[in-house]
Amino acid sequence: MKQSIGFGSHCVHRGPDRSTTRSHTTPIYPTSSFDFATLEQGQAIFSGSEKGHLYGRFGNPTIDEVAEKLGILESFALDLEVGTVLVSSGMAAISTLMLACLQPGDTILTQGNLYGGTTELFRSLLAPLGFPVHFTDLKDMEGVQQVLQTNPRVKLLYFETPANPTMACVDMEALTKLAHSYGCRVDADNTFCTPYIQQPLAFGVDFVVHSTTKYLNGHGNSVAGCIIGRDLALMQDSVFRTMKLAGTNCNPWDAWLISNGLKTLPLRMERHSENAMRVAHFLESHPKVEQVNYVGLLSHPDHQLAQKQMKRFGGMLSFELTGGLESGETFMRSLAFCILAPTMGDVDTLVMHPASMSHRNVPRALRLENEITDGLIRLSVGIENIEDILHDLSQALATIPS
Ligand SMILES: Cc1ncc(COP(=O)(O)O)c(C=O)c1O
Repeated sequence: MKQSIGFGSHCVHRGPDRSTTRSHTTPIYPTSSFDFATLEQGQAIFSGSEKGHLYGRFGNPTIDEVAEKLGILESFALDLEVGTVLVSSGMAAISTLMLACLQPGDTILTQGNLYGGTTELFRSLLAPLGFPVHFTDLKDMEGVQQVLQTNPRVKLLYFETPANPTMACVDMEALTKLAHSYGCRVDADNTFCTPYIQQPLAFGVDFVVHSTTKYLNGHGNSVAGCIIGRDLALMQDSVFRTMKLAGTNCNPWDAWLISNGLKTLPLRMERHSENAMRVAHFLESHPKVEQVNYVGLLSHPDHQLAQKQMKRFGGMLSFELTGGLESGETFMRSLAFCILAPTMGDVDTLVMHPASMSHRNVPRALRLENEITDGLIRLSVGIENIEDILHDLSQALATIPS
């Protein structure tokens, strides 16, 4: 009998199918197509009667191996078979899934506090194409029920928990139950957590999307994304077909970089979480900090919910300084160790100003309604020595006038 192995071992070892070669690490196949031994074989692979690769946009052994591993990790210990499609970015994962599972007129129900690019995709690309989007407070279960009741065309409930950048959480189990009772599917963006910290599939969610660009790769050297779903037929037919025809496929190089990053995922997530907790406590007790949003803090309104849904509290937090935007700008200019960069989930500590960067195209009213204020600063706490991170934050805070 095959021995079942742990989450961390899956991360480190190659995928289950190593039949093509005995390469110790995942090989990269830099080829745009695959040739056939005979005409008959080519026809059989094209028709689907024989398994095999055809053309780079449709798949590649490197991509297949990494996709399979991501599926194993996201459904780890859940006794669930999932389908996984690897794509060219986190945004490609979201747009491919929407095009694959919605018909024109079907409505997306979501929250106002999402990654800014996702809000923009929904508002300025999908809505004009005939996929209306409805923003509501997903913590208000009665409000959600009312939307589902009055609008039978709501076919997809979409959320992030914790959300980017406010760290507000939603109750995945309750929302999924409610959505399912109205025939509405549910998709969670699990980029902030990774399956090491949180498994939305465990709460009944139908699809999980990731920007693998972030923690799954972890080293800031690749842009890619993935879609994982429990409806195997839908994943193999519609989602795969949409990826293939829209050309949102991943490439073998980025897939390989994900597989390399995954090897240390549990170690990194533990250290990110440990460091972020230390940073959150430091900021919370600092006189120049007005508010800290970190789900690991007892003071965070969603701490209990996060405890139910997450194994650790992760590396992401945001905070507001006394003095708002002006103080925030002084603080960010003064940082010498932490890095100003519009990404997150890398091994180094990254700082970002959502209002002028990731959320600059989200209408200000929608931003403010969802507490993405002008002065909010987002911190992606890295895995460096904690003393260096705290020292830099401390000296930068000291430059803010009292
Ligand atoms: C939560 C979340 N989802 C999706 C994305 C989009 O990912 P990508 O940049 O890989 O397209 C981002 C990007 O920052 C994000 O933070």
